[in-house]
Amino acid sequence: MKILVVGSGGREHALAWSIAKSPRIQTVYVAPGNGGTALDERLQNIAITDPAALADFVEQEHVALTVVGPEAPLAAGIVNVFRARGLKVFGPTKEAAQLESSKDFAKAFMKRHAIPTAEYQTFSDVKAAHDYIAQKGAPIVIKADGLAAGKGVVVAMTLEEAHSAIDMMLSDNKLGDASARVVIEEFLSGEEASFIVMVDGKNILPLATSQDHKRLQDNDQGPNTGGMGAYSPAPIVTPALHARVMREIIVPTVQGMAKDGIPFSGFLYAGLMIDDEGTPKTLEFNCRMGDPETQPIMARLKTDLLTVFEHAVSGTLDKVELEWDRRTALGVVMAAYNYPDTPRNGDLITDIPAETPDCVTFHAGTTLTGDKLTTSGGRVLCVVGLGDSVKVAQKHAYAAADLIHFEGSQMRRDIGWRALKR
Ligand code: AMP
Ligand code: GLY
Repeated sequence: MKILVVGSGGREHALAWSIAKSPRIQTVYVAPGNGGTALDERLQNIAITDPAALADFVEQEHVALTVVGPEAPLAAGIVNVFRARGLKVFGPTKEAAQLESSKDFAKAFMKRHAIPTAEYQTFSDVKAAHDYIAQKGAPIVIKADGLAAGKGVVVAMTLEEAHSAIDMMLSDNKLGDASARVVIEEFLSGEEASFIVMVDGKNILPLATSQDHKRLQDNDQGPNTGGMGAYSPAPIVTPALHARVMREIIVPTVQGMAKDGIPFSGFLYAGLMIDDEGTPKTLEFNCRMGDPETQPIMARLKTDLLTVFEHAVSGTLDKVELEWDRRTALGVVMAAYNYPDTPRNGDLITDIPAETPDCVTFHAGTTLTGDKLTTSGGRVLCVVGLGDSVKVAQKHAYAAADLIHFEGSQMRRDIGWRALKR
């Protein structure tokens, strides 16, 4: 069987790697893929990104099923294009992807369906936004309504930062259309966790829990990034909390979307803030898997992922029971020089160790030219270690990462610190 994975990041490498383990797989195409998917003999990169051209390819090659990794093609309607042509695809439609592509849509949806989240108001008028901030005080959070590649959220600890975020987004239009409207919301404190499920329109299949590390440097210092490392499972999500998140957030979301006439299918990722009393609130929805959360999650998945996707596109996810490696998986991101500002491309990458039962390296911003692997993006690699404890998983990940070389590489040394503290 042939499968197509759309995307080029570490998330897509990990998904394709997992699908390729199925004995029924002939080829996993990755569009456009990266250096790591180019190196894996079971995977094949294709240099197509246009949705209609991808659908042509799928028809010509008799690809059985397509899985879409990133939010941009989902928000642009790739699933609508595929479905209109009768092609099997796992992901939300453009309309359902608004849960991620419009913060205002997501907030209004949560309010309408009584899903716990921070209080908010939406503004397009500069003065009204400034007035609201003056009235509410700091800390306060300002979010561009649209997709802004991780740059659309300002957690303002002072009024000054909050006002300048409004100027940046609404007056100076620094984020373009994405910030034509802003959501201003209540600051929530606590610990974050990533709660990701698969949805087939109706049935919900939770994946293993995980936790990301968004800041660039150790001790959660420095600028926000796409994510500098993640591990699974996240011990903060106890079985009781898991049940509560399903009951209060995930089930009402899936049922609410269906009720609103926009049934959701695809990966649904709720970014949670869990306060000191253990009460979960929704910080955001993503309509895709997390990156780098996917890498440790896939490293733990023992069930045949092809079979899972087949059920997902047939509306029978209720027939699936997932089996997980009981070990912890911990992924350390190695980022390029000057990430996240203006990451440098073209640095030669050497000495990536071969995959072992307790370590696997997923590629993101890498390109293979001949036999030379070079950096071609901000987040370059995610090195995942597995172990019976967080500590052992961490040891395996860093032992491998320390062997790998490229000029200017950056990585945090403390991935997993919250789990170690517990
Ligand atoms: P988002 O893209 O909405 O998840 O925001 C990115 C990051 O900003 C989150 O992972 C949090 O660390 C932080 N954040 C977002 N909303 C809030 C909030 N209401 N209170 C505190 N931190 C937040
Ligand atoms: N790692 C966070 C995200 O994928 O949005």
